[in-house]
Amino acid sequence: MEQTEQSMMIPKHIAIIMDGNGRWAKAHGVPRLEGHRQGVKAVRNTVRRCVELEVETLTLFAFSTENNKRTEEEIGWLFKLFLATLKLEINKLNKANIRLEVIGDLSVFDDRLQKAIADGVSLLASNTGMKLVIAANYGGHWDITQAVKQIAHSHAKGGVGLDEINEQFFAKHLSLGSDSVDLLIRSSGEQRISNFMLWQLAYSELYFTDTLWPDFDASGLDRAIDSYQKRDRRFGSR
Ligand code: IPE
Ligand code: IPE
Ligand code: MG
Repeated sequence: MEQTEQSMMIPKHIAIIMDGNGRWAKAHGVPRLEGHRQGVKAVRNTVRRCVELEVETLTLFAFSTENNKRTEEEIGWLFKLFLATLKLEINKLNKANIRLEVIGDLSVFDDRLQKAIADGVSLLASNTGMKLVIAANYGGHWDITQAVKQIAHSHAKGGVGLDEINEQFFAKHLSLGSDSVDLLIRSSGEQRISNFMLWQLAYSELYFTDTLWPDFDASGLDRAIDSYQKRDRRFGSR
């Protein structure tokens, strides 16, 4: 009984690996940048649908630490697109009562982008609706490493004893704390995590779709949630 009620629920935290912009561009005979631009449309549709469904947290993987291996040109485009999108959308996000969090090593971004992120986050800080998390220059390994550094620093100064370091304590030092992911969606047919939120994905339901990210829309999200609702989440119990 309890399980049925739970399985009908909308996932509280959805995370998405938005993949396939490049292949979409290739299939349409347009430059990769155009694929990324079309990807922003899919972001808009997905955010809107998640707000309608009263999802509590939506985390979007926008740029991984490994994406720094791409050409300078593509990285430059992506950062420019991020800045332009942030500026264009921030007031709409505010009207939708959305809170914003940006996780990742933001130190690589230029001052303008860092300022736009900080301004956007603070503008939306008192909103009470859905939390939108953008993972930018983010990596699961980076996240765990920065948490270890914080704790080691605190331990060295006598701030925390070894016996106080347990899973809950550790998770508090991760970018999103212990905000575990209920449903992970990856577009474009790839079936891997690509160094996304390793800790928070420990017990997530995984959903892979062949749809390329720019073609992903509200009905694609609904299909993923349908699949989620049919899962039996046991968390190791019987
Ligand atoms: C996802 O699309 C966007 C980012 C990783 C920034 P890709 O650019 O990875 O597209 P494919 O995988 O080459 O199709
Ligand atoms: C993962 O996609 C990162 C983002 C979607 C931001 P990639 O396209 O970079 O991952 P791989 O190379 O297929 O693992
Ligand atoms: Mg890709």
